[in-house]
Amino acid sequence: MALRQLSLTDFRNLHSTTLDLDPAFNLILGANGAGKTSLLEAIHIISQGQSFKTRSLEQCIQHGKQSFLIFSRFDDYKAGISKTTTDSQIRLNNQTITRLSELAEKTPIRIINADSFKLVEGSPAVKREYIDWSVFHVEHTYHDLWIDYRHALKQRNALLKARQPYKQLDYWDDFLADKNQLIYEFRAKYIKLLSASISAELKRLVDDLHITIEYRPGWNTEHSYEQLLRQQRDKDLRYGFTHSGIHRDDIKIFADGVPIGQALSRGQLKRLSISLILAQIILLRQMTGKSMILLIDDINAELDSTALELIMQILSGLDLQIFITSINGLPEQLAQSKEYKMFHVEHGMIRVAKSS
Ligand SMILES: Nc1ncnc2c1ncn2[C@@H]1O[C@H](COP(=O)(O)OP(=O)(O)OP(=O)(O)O)[C@@H](O)[C@H]1O
Ligand SMILES: [Mg+2]
Repeated sequence: MALRQLSLTDFRNLHSTTLDLDPAFNLILGANGAGKTSLLEAIHIISQGQSFKTRSLEQCIQHGKQSFLIFSRFDDYKAGISKTTTDSQIRLNNQTITRLSELAEKTPIRIINADSFKLVEGSPAVKREYIDWSVFHVEHTYHDLWIDYRHALKQRNALLKARQPYKQLDYWDDFLADKNQLIYEFRAKYIKLLSASISAELKRLVDDLHITIEYRPGWNTEHSYEQLLRQQRDKDLRYGFTHSGIHRDDIKIFADGVPIGQALSRGQLKRLSISLILAQIILLRQMTGKSMILLIDDINAELDSTALELIMQILSGLDLQIFITSINGLPEQLAQSKEYKMFHVEHGMIRVAKSS
């Protein structure tokens, strides 16, 4: 399900335009500040409903304008997003939808950029989001499970803060425990699968180091979570929040058994973070057969030529739609590869430089 056509109106610095895209490779060239990342951001928003740059889509409205509009044609559906300063609307095949997940589940999308580092060195929340992306796209119950868990946690924390009687807490403890267990099982399963995907397919990219991803659940799993909630009630009441649960999960990464922070050079860390993203894509592809989009922002800054070559080899074996931006011009590896389409961005104006 490739993105075939994209129309933009008043999005960031980009001039309003309609672009026909290549279903396999799209290269976007331009100087600093031209609008390359903005174009990737628009593609991300129309696929996922969210930006990779900001939580507030309002920021994407062109300065001095009241709203932006993105319209897209994928192989077998159409999607549109409009955002004004006060309102937003998502349309899927001409119907307004209220659940963002309906759009997000259609075409999985991932980005490799300067922030990809955070996957390796960032907060537990970033790592949880990484695992959750994989689970969300394979397990259809996961999204609702998550919403239920978050709701229950909020209710329980509100009761704790208000120092409500134990009876009310009992109800939410049971509810939370149920969802906690299911999310835990899903996450454990996918962490194992992702570990295996890195060892099997991406070893060369991480200098043949044996990379393992370890799940550190946000509570002591030797005890039943339900019992733990009850045991910790006094402590939770004192602090006014729930100390244990999957919302405190962490994920640790090891290279040849050593925590990666100590073991790897900056360059290796870069390659590892890219491997983690590719592992997700490869795994999802194997499990669902879904078409996906990969965005690579500023490819030269992210990769040396050996890594680039390896990645191009890996990518050419995957049936993905890829958008790559670059300041320096065409990476050699791409020049030799299969067909691609090239765009030039200049002061927000996008023009086709090479048709596929
Ligand atoms: N809401 C907005 N309205 C108008 N212009 C904006 C808005 N938000 C950002 N810009 C401007 O858009 C320009 C393009 O930014 P963008 O990050 O897309 O450039 P880029 O081509 O990726 O550059 P680089 O090579 O430096 O990464 C920047 O000059 C930025 O200040
Ligand atoms: Mg940029």
